[in-house]
Amino acid sequence: MDVEKFIEEKVAQIKETVGQDKAINALSGGVDSSVVTALGHRALGDQLETVFLDDGLMREKEPESVAAAFEPLGIRVRIVEVKDRFFSTLKGIEDPEEKRKAFRDMFYTCLGEVVKASDARFLLQGTIKADIMETQKGVKTQHNILEQIGIDPEAGYGFKVIEPLIELFKPGVRQVATGLGLPEEIAQRMPFPGPGLATRCLGEVNPERIEIVRKAVKIVEEETKGIPAFQCFAALLKDRATGLKADGSREFGHMIVVRCVESEDALTAEPVHLPWDVLRKIEKRIAGEIAEVSRVLYDLTPKPPATIEYI
Ligand code: XMP
Repeated sequence: MDVEKFIEEKVAQIKETVGQDKAINALSGGVDSSVVTALGHRALGDQLETVFLDDGLMREKEPESVAAAFEPLGIRVRIVEVKDRFFSTLKGIEDPEEKRKAFRDMFYTCLGEVVKASDARFLLQGTIKADIMETQKGVKTQHNILEQIGIDPEAGYGFKVIEPLIELFKPGVRQVATGLGLPEEIAQRMPFPGPGLATRCLGEVNPERIEIVRKAVKIVEEETKGIPAFQCFAALLKDRATGLKADGSREFGHMIVVRCVESEDALTAEPVHLPWDVLRKIEKRIAGEIAEVSRVLYDLTPKPPATIEYI
C-alpha cells in the first residue's frame, strides 16, 4: 500500500465531505480510532472535536495517557467522565451476554448524548474491514451506528457517518498510523476490547473488582513486553480459593488467570509458550502486589474451544 497516497486521498475526501461543517469522533486509544483522529484533524483542524468516553473500564491511566499522546500532534482530546453511569448499569449483572448488552447500550447512550449536544453534522468512525466480518459473526456491533446512538439518518437531521478506514485490515491501519506520525506504542498497540476490563471480570463488574483486574493486567503487560504475542492480559475469576497471608492466617482470596495468545486474526488462537521464569515473575508480582489475590493461574486453552476474552 502507498501510505502517503492513502493519507492524501482520505484527507482530501474528508475535507470535501465535511466542507465548512463540524465533525466529531470518539477516540479509545486503539489504533483504529487513533488513526481516524489523526486523519480527521489533518483534514479538518479545529472543525473536528475528539472525545474520549471514560467509562471506568480502561487500563491504568489510559484516558490521561491517550490524551497526552495526542497533545504533541496539536490534537486536544476532551475526556467525558461517564464512569458512574457504566458501573450503575453493570451493577449486579453476571451473565456475559447481559454484561455486553448493558455495556453496549450505555456506550451508545453516552455517545449519542455527546454527539447530539455538539453542533457536529458528521461522525468519523474507525470501522475497518475486519469489524464488518466480526459484526456478521456477532463479536461486535459496529453497523448502523447512527441508529444505535439514537439518530435517524432519514429524519432530515442531515447527519452522516464517515468511515475512512473501511477498506483496510489491521496491518494496513498500523502502516497508516506510522505514516501519520503516531507514536509506535499506538501504531503497534495490542487489541483491547471495546467493553474493556468488563470482558476480563467474571461475576459482578464493580469499581473494587475492576481495580483488582486493572492492576493484574498492568503487571502482565509489563512482564510480557517484548514477547511476540497477539494479546497478553489477566482476568479476574468469580470463584475464590484459600491462600495463606504473611502472618500464617488463612484467607479465601481472589483468583487471577493469565492469558497470553498468538493469533493472526483473532478467529483462532494458540496459547503462548511463556518462559517459566516469566510466568513465575508474573505470579510473584500479582500475588505480592495485589493484596486480595491468593492464586494465579495460566490459561492453556486454544481458541476454539475457548474464546480469547473471558465473557
Ligand atoms: P474473543 O474473546 O471473542 O475475542 O475470542 C476475539 C477478539 O475480539 C476482541 N473482543 C472484542 N472487541 N468488543 C471489541 O471491540 C468486544 O465486545 C470484544 N470481545 C472480544 C478480543 O480482545 C479479541 O481480540
